[in-house]
Amino acid sequence: MKELEQIISAAREDFAAAASVADLEQAKSRFLGKSGSLTGLLKGLGKLAADERPQAGATINEGKARVESLLRARLDEILARELESRLAGEAIDVTLPGRGQRPGGLHPIARVQEQVERLFRTMGFSVADGPEIEDDEHNFTALRMFPDHPSRSMQDTFYIEGSDKVLRTQTSPVQIRYMKSHAPPIRIICPGRVYRKDHDATHSPMFHQVEGLWVEEGVSLADLKGTVTQFCRAFFERDDIGLRFRPSYFPFVEPGVEIDMEWSRKDGEVTYLEIAGAGVVHPDVLRNGGIDPEKYSGFAFGMGLDRLAMLKYGVDDLRLFFENDLKFLAQFR
Ligand code: PHE
Repeated sequence: MKELEQIISAAREDFAAAASVADLEQAKSRFLGKSGSLTGLLKGLGKLAADERPQAGATINEGKARVESLLRARLDEILARELESRLAGEAIDVTLPGRGQRPGGLHPIARVQEQVERLFRTMGFSVADGPEIEDDEHNFTALRMFPDHPSRSMQDTFYIEGSDKVLRTQTSPVQIRYMKSHAPPIRIICPGRVYRKDHDATHSPMFHQVEGLWVEEGVSLADLKGTVTQFCRAFFERDDIGLRFRPSYFPFVEPGVEIDMEWSRKDGEVTYLEIAGAGVVHPDVLRNGGIDPEKYSGFAFGMGLDRLAMLKYGVDDLRLFFENDLKFLAQFR
């Protein structure tokens, strides 16, 4: 049967041309579907003479079986190829070099804080702590920064709506908290985060201070100078530290000073960078802490930890510490 031979060879070609299971399904229906050409041949049997029918029927069925086996063979081929390409796509190249694991490290500010704590411990100070969300009383009033006092505006800050709470502007409230709960002799430092509405190369809205407080009989400004100088020498590992104690005003000390440290900027110019506010604790502040100012005296300082880090590592923009750029931070590992 010539027509049957043609159908078979057309099927072979169409199946070979099918690239996917879906293509093959379509090709299949062209031959074996309800109106497919092979099905058409079978339907035509009825028109033949009765004695020709069995022979023709057998031949067509044989042809149909061949088309079906061509179809199955092609389906196997397509499935095998699909599996192969899926496996290739999901393959892991075990010969690729690994991505490696980079060692982490402490943030430079955390590192500086650890060093500061260690050095002050060797000088007999212990490390105290206080809340970052402070009340107005401890952050300001007990430190003689009364409502409407202009010194408050220097520390303009973040207030918590509908309460008397502020994000503490300084670590000094810890002075009050510690004095209230401890009797002299008191020798503490308190490192921590503080917040102000400031943002430039040497100020950031969140920064770090370390408060220092020494209250005992006979403590004076001389002890402050000695302690801070000793600390700076040890911290910067140099004996020739250029420190400047400049008279200044803070409501909670009398006398008050600002402490500046010599700083060679990248452009070669030598200037001073303020590293701390300090002074002799005001008698009223001792009283607010429950301590008798007739018997005891003390000094306090508030040092900028970030400023210490800038000076130690030669960083001239404070904001770099808080951008979390790994290229910057990895240098301190
Ligand atoms: N708390 C002051 C500030 O942040 C610094 C300071 C601390 C000054 C202790 C004197 C004594 O500006």
